[in-house]
Amino acid sequence: MKIGIVGLGFVGLSLTSVLASGGYRTIGIDIDKKRCEKISNGNSPFFEPGLEKTLRNGLKKKLTISNDFSLLNDCDFIFVAVGTPQSANGTIDLSMIKKSIRSVGKTLHKNNKNPIILVKSTVVPGTMKNTILPILEKSSDKKAGKDFGLISNPEFLQESSAIRDTKFPHVVVLGGYQTKYMRKTKKFFEKLHPKIPIIITNHQTAEMIKYANNSFLATKISFINQLSSICQSIPGANIDDIAKTIGLDPRIGKLFLNAGPGYGGSCLPKDMKALINFATKSRIKPILLNAVEEINIKQLDQLVSLIKQQLGNISTKKITILGTAFKPDTDDVRDSVAIELIKKLLKRKARITVHDPKAIKNTMNIFGKRISYAKSINDALSKSHCVIITTQWKQYEHLNDNQIKYMTKKFIIDCRRILVKKELDAEYYAIGLGKEV
Ligand code: UGA
Repeated sequence: MKIGIVGLGFVGLSLTSVLASGGYRTIGIDIDKKRCEKISNGNSPFFEPGLEKTLRNGLKKKLTISNDFSLLNDCDFIFVAVGTPQSANGTIDLSMIKKSIRSVGKTLHKNNKNPIILVKSTVVPGTMKNTILPILEKSSDKKAGKDFGLISNPEFLQESSAIRDTKFPHVVVLGGYQTKYMRKTKKFFEKLHPKIPIIITNHQTAEMIKYANNSFLATKISFINQLSSICQSIPGANIDDIAKTIGLDPRIGKLFLNAGPGYGGSCLPKDMKALINFATKSRIKPILLNAVEEINIKQLDQLVSLIKQQLGNISTKKITILGTAFKPDTDDVRDSVAIELIKKLLKRKARITVHDPKAIKNTMNIFGKRISYAKSINDALSKSHCVIITTQWKQYEHLNDNQIKYMTKKFIIDCRRILVKKELDAEYYAIGLGKEV
């Protein structure tokens, strides 16, 4: 069996590496030649725990990385995992997936194996039937369901645990028609992930499941963030005790109740926007989804207000940001709340210094010389008027009085309450904690 994967980002490269290291004959395709060269040499283009090890393991077996789509000619399964970013008006941008699907279609023309195309990319309901299927049939001159299979296969992996999630997903969703292709795909996944539930449904439901999943996660975060704002007005109230307790109720569950500066990353914000747009076009007023987004935006605004309230005029004040990655254990800064915060503070002419264990290069690509980049936490704090802990990196939990003593003003805003027990010699504010009066 030969498996092709198109698009070597977080989803595609994790799948490629896991399949190849599991001994499958695997072809990873990406249009970016440089990226392919890097991956072929065993180096990941981004930081993801465990990825390089799995990739290198795969490269020792039967893995080829290339920008040449014709290598897909004799594949049995072809996964498409290219990005579907947000366009300027908030709707989903399908240009990359259309292009890849066209290229895959051309290879189908020569493929005599009746291959199965699985679309992992997040697409709004109706895209498989109305866009992807017609492009594939036209470019291959073949019929879906007869000459090849087409299946929606949404992905639920999280960055920072991509390898684990690829090896052990909580569910496999297969959307499409009940054909021999569906039966073959089910068998493939039963072997790959024994004991994992497989949900078989139609294309549009599979597409909607992905949005349901991400929008529910965003809702949980905005819910706890709204409560955390209320807690801040109750002296002594603690959002973590509340989250821990309600999380013990199995109907609620403990995950995704960690209050913070708002959700970011390359998925939740753009998927929320795409779903809101899709609902509006379908003449459904997305009242709840709009509120979830609004709370997320307010969370950051409140942070800026607190800084202004405590520092007065912030122009020329040195403000330290600890963590620019959108979450720990990644170097990804796409739609990171810390990046948005820096933009807002720069508009008010603050002098920004950032520290991040992994994401400095990506942060530099955004801000260049407009901000300073500290190599150590101590350098980041020296002569600072305020430090904001935005990303919950482990190393920030060890911050101590010795490190903050060279701050010009010892003012800490802890977005993740990681220093709450430390009783540091500083003015300390934390999201979700009501200040004792
Ligand atoms: C998210 C989903 O969790 C994945 O299931 C999904 O497959 C992926 O999007 C996708 O669609 O590709 P990811 O973007 O890696 O995964 O990030 P999350 O772990 O969901 O975190 C998103 C944001 O929410 C981060 O800014 C994080 O700090 C924030 N968050 C998360 C909180 O503020 N509190 C929490 O309790 C959890």
